[in-house]
Amino acid sequence: MKVIIKSSEHDCAQEAFSLFQNAYQNGAKHFGLATGTTPLGLYELIRNSNMDFSDCISINLDEYVGLSRDNAHSYHHYMKEQLFAVKPFKHSFLPNGLATDEQGEIDAYEQLLSTYPIDFQILGLGSNAHIGFNEPGTPFTQTTHKVKLADATIRANSRFFENEQEVPQYAFSMGLASIMKAKEIVLLAFGRNKAQAVADLVQGPVTVDVPASILQTHPNVTIIIDEQAASLLH
Ligand code: F6R
Repeated sequence: MKVIIKSSEHDCAQEAFSLFQNAYQNGAKHFGLATGTTPLGLYELIRNSNMDFSDCISINLDEYVGLSRDNAHSYHHYMKEQLFAVKPFKHSFLPNGLATDEQGEIDAYEQLLSTYPIDFQILGLGSNAHIGFNEPGTPFTQTTHKVKLADATIRANSRFFENEQEVPQYAFSMGLASIMKAKEIVLLAFGRNKAQAVADLVQGPVTVDVPASILQTHPNVTIIIDEQAASLLH
């Protein structure tokens, strides 16, 4: 696991962009994408680049259960706004938050990951060390699944909603085993409220209590963090 510490979020986004671009130039075609605040700078750099994704596939980590793709809080909507409207991919996949056959949706999503194995995966980090929506306690063998979001996650994500009650309680998420199949993984984390999760992920034991700690066992992971997120590393 390689750890890169930069003085600003912008420099972190630049570093992630360089790795993204290298992967693209070296033939990566299947990109695993994340939502949230963390990748916004990276998506801006990609939007302003000359990269063309018309023969590429994107597969997102997760989507809220119960939100339609047009809902302004859905991750479908976020991805359209932040990337796809400017940089369309040949196919872009996110779980269908309104799927009535939930198990069918989960199985189909996991099948997608076999059809289009991810070459390059972008990850953010929850302050409770979740990746995707794999909350503490999720088995490392977990594949795509429906998740009951942790209270901490609902609280953290309520900043995007009118109030905490409006945050969906469930999401579909790629599992830890699904994420670990990616050939290359780049995780970004910024700010003091991610520092404990970063310290646990990088220097703690590999344990289901710290979902991101599984990344210690992956052969090609780069963690890109700002100084505040690095403040508890020794
Ligand atoms: C988003 C995702 C989550 C976020 C994490 C950090 O698709 O899977 O794991 O990456 O919750 O969120 P932000 O970036 O908003 O701090």
